Amino acid sequence: NNYQYIKVWTDNEIGNIELHRPKVLNAINQSMVAEILTALCEFDYSEQVKVIVLFGAGKSFAAGADIKEMMGENAVSMELKNQFADWDRIALIKKPVIAAVHGFVLGGGFELALCADMIFAAANSKFGFPEVKLGVMPSAGGCVKLTKLIGKRKALEFLWSGNHLEAEEAKHWGMVNRVVPNELLMQETIHFAEKLKKQPALALRLIKDTVRRAENVTENEAMQYERKNFSLLFASEDQQEGMQAFMEKRSPHFQGK
Ligand code: HXC
Repeated sequence: NNYQYIKVWTDNEIGNIELHRPKVLNAINQSMVAEILTALCEFDYSEQVKVIVLFGAGKSFAAGADIKEMMGENAVSMELKNQFADWDRIALIKKPVIAAVHGFVLGGGFELALCADMIFAAANSKFGFPEVKLGVMPSAGGCVKLTKLIGKRKALEFLWSGNHLEAEEAKHWGMVNRVVPNELLMQETIHFAEKLKKQPALALRLIKDTVRRAENVTENEAMQYERKNFSLLFASEDQQEGMQAFMEKRSPHFQGK
C-alpha cells in the first residue's frame, strides 16, 4: 500500500504504524485517519501479525486534528463526510493494539491513543483536549471516554480548561497504562508486545471483545456475553494445550486456534 501520512511495516509478527507528518507534529487529517484504518484492517486480517503498535514520528505522537483542514469545514460538509465512521471502525479491530505515545498527545491525537487497547507513555508526554480554545470540543469520543475514565467532575475540569496533563498525572487518573523513560518507550512497548505474542490469540481476542462489551451494555448482559465467550474457547486447540501443559508441568505452546 502507498501511504502518504503514515509508515507501516511488520517486524517479527508485530505490525507497526507510525504517524508520519513530523513537521506539523503529526496533525491528523482525514486522509491520515483513513490510512490508519486501512493499515489496522490489513494487520487484523494478516496471519503474519499478532500485535499492533501505533506511535508517532518526530517530537510528538500527535498534536490533534489538522486545524488547517478543519478550518475549511462547515456543519453540512462535516455531516456529509461522515468522517467518524472511520473512527468507529477502528474500535472493531480484534487484535491487541498498543499506542506508544510521547510529546504532545492532544485532541484527536489523544482520542486516537484512547482507541488503542493500552497506552504506554514516554515521561515527556503531555495530554490534553485543547479543542475548547478553538471554539469547539472533542468529537472522536474524547468527552465520552474521559467521563467514563475519570468521572464527570474531573472530565469537565479538564475539557473546559484545555490544560495539559503530565504523563505521571495521566497515569494517576488511569488514562495510560504506564509511564516509561523517553528513550525506552519503544523498547518497553515491544517487550510487552512480545509477551502478548506468546499468549493464546483467541483468548486475547475474546477478552478484548468482552471488555469492550462490558463498557457498553448493562452488567447482566455483559456477564452473559462473557460466559458465551468463555464456552467458545473450549472449542479451541489452545484451551486443550493450555490445560494439558499445566497437568504435564510444562510451558504451553499456543498455536492461535
Ligand atoms: C495543524 C499543527 C497542529 C494542528 C501543530 N501544528 N499542531 N498544524 N493542526 N493540530 C503545526 C504548527 O502550525 C507548526 O507549523 C508546527 O506544527 C509546529 O508547531 P508549533 O506550534 O510551532 O510548535 P510548539 O510551539 O512547540 O507548540 C506545540 C503545540 C501547538 C502546543 C502542540 O502546536 C498547538 O497548540 N497545536 C494545536 C493543538 C490543538 O489545538 N489540537 C487540537 C486540534 S482540534 P508551522 O508551519 O507553523 O511551522 C482536534 C479535534 C479532534 O483535535 C477531532 C477529531 C478528528
